[in-house]
Amino acid sequence: MREKIINFFKKWLSFVGYTTTVPMELSNQDILTFIEAMKSVSGYDFSEYTEKSFYRRIEKILVDNHMDINQLILKIKNHPEYLEQIVKDITVNTTELFRDPETWQILKYQVLPKFQDLPVINIWHAGCSTGQEVYSMLILLNEMNLFDRAHLIATDINSDVLDVADKGIYKYRAISEYIDNYNKVIKENPYNYDEFNDIPYTKYFTVEKVDYTIRVKPFLRKKTIFLKHDLVKDRNIFDRHFDIIMCRNVLIYFNHNLQNRLFEFFYENLNQNGCLVIGKHEGMLSPIANKFKKKGVVFIKKE
Ligand SMILES: C[S@@+](CC[C@H](N)C(=O)[O-])C[C@H]1O[C@@H](n2cnc3c(N)ncnc32)[C@H](O)[C@@H]1O
Repeated sequence: MREKIINFFKKWLSFVGYTTTVPMELSNQDILTFIEAMKSVSGYDFSEYTEKSFYRRIEKILVDNHMDINQLILKIKNHPEYLEQIVKDITVNTTELFRDPETWQILKYQVLPKFQDLPVINIWHAGCSTGQEVYSMLILLNEMNLFDRAHLIATDINSDVLDVADKGIYKYRAISEYIDNYNKVIKENPYNYDEFNDIPYTKYFTVEKVDYTIRVKPFLRKKTIFLKHDLVKDRNIFDRHFDIIMCRNVLIYFNHNLQNRLFEFFYENLNQNGCLVIGKHEGMLSPIANKFKKKGVVFIKKE
């Protein structure tokens, strides 16, 4: 009954030509209709994204664009470029340099040393956002003398963030937020407090005082192939298996079925002893977990 009244009210507002900037409560049916429309006109499938975050994003899109859900559906059906913009608006792109330093410390001291003898190290950053995770990896590899052997692919569903990642230009104020993480991973050793490697971040970034940006140095920038890839529908299009798959803070937006399918998919596309790294608020609950050795959020494929 409540839903019927809300829908009637929404239709009436739209009939009299009024579009509200106050978020309207969306019904499950509204969301399902929107997801179906996206799927039918584009192939993007958001049906297995977690409801809470997805609802919030759609509500924000409606408020920002002064539309109701029916107007949004109509517009995505008729304007493919607008649909691409909506996909970008749905995604959450928060990231930082050396995000969750403990994870990078595990990689540095417990995982990467085991790759010292590999002639090639294939790495995939799935859901790389604006690239800070990729540059963190490259800095770490460089400090461990593994840089030349590494081949990196970084993907995301959102092509705008890939452009930022490829350029490697960030706001200067971000560096002050990142510097603590950088120091924890690159300068300090949590297993030996006497050790201190005084490597300034300016080894990897140039600071542009004119436009208040920091720029990733070209030798790091040139190393990665950035590609658009949708984890929901695209398979391994890269023609290789991986030694490291980083998929952090992406699975949290997916329901358990999709998460489990992706865990299977990542497992199949890892080399023996290769590792999958997930976010610190993510977990692996499916039976596939038995096929991995776990070190924090690093899952190493068993022999
Ligand atoms: C919160 S960011 C995580 C960035 C980085 N991995 C980190 O941990 O800092 C999540 C990223 O996943 C991407 N994403 C969401 N759905 C995706 C999908 N179906 N396929 C590929 N990437 C997706 C988003 O565009 C966003 O850039």
